[in-house]
Amino acid sequence: MKILVLLGSPRRKGNSESAAVTVVDQITATIGGEAEYIRLTKEDISPCIACGGCEKTGECIVKDGMVDLYDKIDGADLLFLVSPTYFYGLSAQMKGFIDRIQCRWSRKYLLKTPFRKEDRRLGYLICTAATHGKKLFDGSILVAKSFYDAIDVRYGGELLIRGVDQRGEFSSNQEEIEKAQLFAREIASHFPD
Ligand SMILES: Cc1cc2nc3c(=O)[nH]c(=O)nc-3n(C[C@H](O)[C@H](O)[C@H](O)COP(=O)(O)O)c2cc1C
Repeated sequence: MKILVLLGSPRRKGNSESAAVTVVDQITATIGGEAEYIRLTKEDISPCIACGGCEKTGECIVKDGMVDLYDKIDGADLLFLVSPTYFYGLSAQMKGFIDRIQCRWSRKYLLKTPFRKEDRRLGYLICTAATHGKKLFDGSILVAKSFYDAIDVRYGGELLIRGVDQRGEFSSNQEEIEKAQLFAREIASHFPD
């Protein structure tokens, strides 16, 4: 099983990354699999330029780091979008990456050629935030659902971590770590061997 983890934080080993590692380690310890982490801040991903090219072909005309990422997305069985909350949404790096999925949206909804008909792949969202507001993650969840819909991956749910700000705050919060491990076990149960 291939697991693709898309990290949206510019902060190395920050809260969202640490949460993702906790989840993915628990999954691979339970059911095996091979995890690949992509640090989006290190990728050469330019923003969508709304040229409309993909509306005719389903392909993006911009040939940058996304070329490899489209293949990695297609090859993954289990995907994670991992991001800090920035102004009630995903990080700019994560959002820029997601906007480049417009070619998949065009392929599905304009050209009516979805990726796989019987697709059992699953996708999740992991998000951190410093505060505790009720609507803190509403925007990010909507974007994640829309992303997974465009790439024909079933949305499995989200791990939302409130009240973590400085680097290391997730890793020193036993309650949040246990929540992440529970989340991972639930995900693993969808992949019987
Ligand atoms: C530009 C910026 C915007 C932020 N906006 C919010 C916000 O709207 N709400 C919130 O609760 N935290 C906000 N935060 C705090 C981060 O979401 C929080 O520190 C998070 O745990 C960082 O995760 P990371 O360590 O993976 O980068 C913001 C932080 C930055 C740098």
